[in-house]
Amino acid sequence: MSRRRQIYEGKAKILYEGPEPGTIIQYFKDDATAFNAEKKGTINGKGVINNRISEHIFTLLGHIGIPSHFIRRLNMREQLVKQVEIVPIEVIVRNVAAGSLSKRLGIEEGTPLPHTLLEYCYKDDALGDPLVAEEHIACFGWASQEEMQDISAMAIRINDFMAGMFAGIGIKLVDFKLEFGRVFEGDFSRIILADEISPDGCRLWDIKTNEKLDKDRFRRDLGGEAEAYQEVARRLGLFPEGESEVLDLNSERKKRGK
Ligand code: TMP
Ligand code: ASP
Repeated sequence: MSRRRQIYEGKAKILYEGPEPGTIIQYFKDDATAFNAEKKGTINGKGVINNRISEHIFTLLGHIGIPSHFIRRLNMREQLVKQVEIVPIEVIVRNVAAGSLSKRLGIEEGTPLPHTLLEYCYKDDALGDPLVAEEHIACFGWASQEEMQDISAMAIRINDFMAGMFAGIGIKLVDFKLEFGRVFEGDFSRIILADEISPDGCRLWDIKTNEKLDKDRFRRDLGGEAEAYQEVARRLGLFPEGESEVLDLNSERKKRGK
C-alpha cells in the first residue's frame, strides 16, 4: 500500500492528495492554536466534531445554493473536497461586537451591531493576518472586484442562514470566519466556499446564558472546550445516542467514571 501524499499541514488540518485529480482530503486534527499560534494545545475529539459539524453546515448551505468545495465525508476525521486556489482573504462576518472588534473600537462585547458587518483580513501568518480594506484587496490584486461581489453576497446569505439555524437551537451567532477559493473551468474561474465552518472559527453563545460554546473557551482559558464543542454538535442533532462512544472525549469520560 502506498502512503498518500501530504500537500500541506495547517494549524488545525492536514491536506492530502485526493483519489482523483482536482480532489483533496482534509484531515481534522485535535490541535488548537490561538493568537497566531502563540498559544498551542489540544481539544480532545475536536477534529471528529469539527469534521461532522462542517459537513452538516456545508451540506445545508448547498441546499440553499451556496457552492462549496465539500464533496463528502470519508470517515470520522476526513472529508473529500474539491481542490481550490484559496483567495488569501479571511472574511469575518459579525452580528454582535466581540473579540478584536471590541478591542479595536472600544465597543463592549455583546453589543448587537446595527447591521451585519463584514471585515477582511489578509491571510499571512508572518504579518498576523492584518485587517485590510476592500481597496487593499483590489490594489494588490488578491481578488477582483467581481470576485469580492460574489464573496460578500455569499457571506451575507451564509450569515442569514446560519444565524437562523443556530437561533433554532438556542445559540446566538456572534461572529465567524469564512474562506473562499477559486475553481477553474476552461478560461474561467468561479468562487466557492472552502475551508471549514466549526466552533474553531465561530463565536457561538448560548442565547439565554451567553455561555461561550466555541474556541474562546480555549483562547481565554475558560476550560470545558471539548464539552462546549460537543454541546454544539448535540444541539445540531449530530452524534445521536449510540454513536457518541466514537468521541475520544466520551471514552475519556467513561474511563474517569463520569
Ligand atoms: P476576532 O474577533 O479575533 O477578529 O475573530 C472574529 C471571528 O473570526 C471569530 O469567530 C474567530 C474567527 N477567527 C478565526 O477563525 N481565525 C482567526 O485567525 C481569527 C483571528 C479569528
Ligand atoms: N487560529 C488562529 C491561530 O492560531 C487564531 C485564532 O483562531 O484565534 O493563529
